[in-house]
Amino acid sequence: MKFIRAIPAISRETKAARSSGHPVVLVPTMGNLHAGHLSLIRRARKLAGAKGTVVVTLFVNRIQFGPTEDFASYPRNLKRDTALCREAGVDILFAPSDAVIYPGAHSTYVVESRLAKRMEGASRPTHFRGVTTVVAKLFNLVQPDAAVFGAKDWQQAAVIRQMTTDLNFPIRIVVAPTVRERDGLALSSRNAYLSPAEREQATVLYDVIRAARLAVKHAPAPLPAGVLRRKLSRLVAKQRLAKLDYIEFFDPKTLEPAKRIDRGTHIALAVFFGKTRLIDNGRL
Ligand code: PAF
Repeated sequence: MKFIRAIPAISRETKAARSSGHPVVLVPTMGNLHAGHLSLIRRARKLAGAKGTVVVTLFVNRIQFGPTEDFASYPRNLKRDTALCREAGVDILFAPSDAVIYPGAHSTYVVESRLAKRMEGASRPTHFRGVTTVVAKLFNLVQPDAAVFGAKDWQQAAVIRQMTTDLNFPIRIVVAPTVRERDGLALSSRNAYLSPAEREQATVLYDVIRAARLAVKHAPAPLPAGVLRRKLSRLVAKQRLAKLDYIEFFDPKTLEPAKRIDRGTHIALAVFFGKTRLIDNGRL
């Protein structure tokens, strides 16, 4: 595995990989890798094939965090991440510093202005601007054939797909399924912030998705969004340590809000446990 920290080296190595004629597949991450990331890497290997190149990036992207968010405390573990990537058969690991990606004079941002507005965008107004800016930079540096993202960040994947189309990046966006703990909690680096009591109650995110699925399954007709939202909000309110941020229903492709909830509608929610904010989503 090649371990790279500088721009000229990542450009040179990925150019050489592309000229081999085999696929180059990118997995962008913020590090602190867990089983969810490893499943993205496995998917990338399948897409790249044995002779292709899997590129993983580790970069905690300052500009996608709000001023009061957890950028400073976000878990970083370069040594462990490097070992995990090596074990997983990654070909190139790109772990740039903040100064490499955002040298002093950086003042250009990439903004997706429709899908990025609601849900995560409403709660974290500068978040997606940071995501699309760094992902566009990584796309330019690596120029992969495909890039793999996790379904846990459903809106993020939709925003990135839209940016990819709008800016004519010739890159296939692949979305791999969410990996869950045995009790249903979606894997996330932020789970590490939870106290034991919060961790126990954090299963409520998946409970909400399952309750919504059951409600839709047994409803004789499409359910009004308001009615279902109120019912599901009560489930969250039962957990003493949980504070609901939002529950939204929408079309999984266009992210258009759904007024009547039926099979195939998508649900997404965000819940605070103290300062920790968890998200999840699923198809109903
Ligand atoms: O999903 C993430 O980990 C990040 O948002 C990403 C895509 C690596 C951009 O920093």
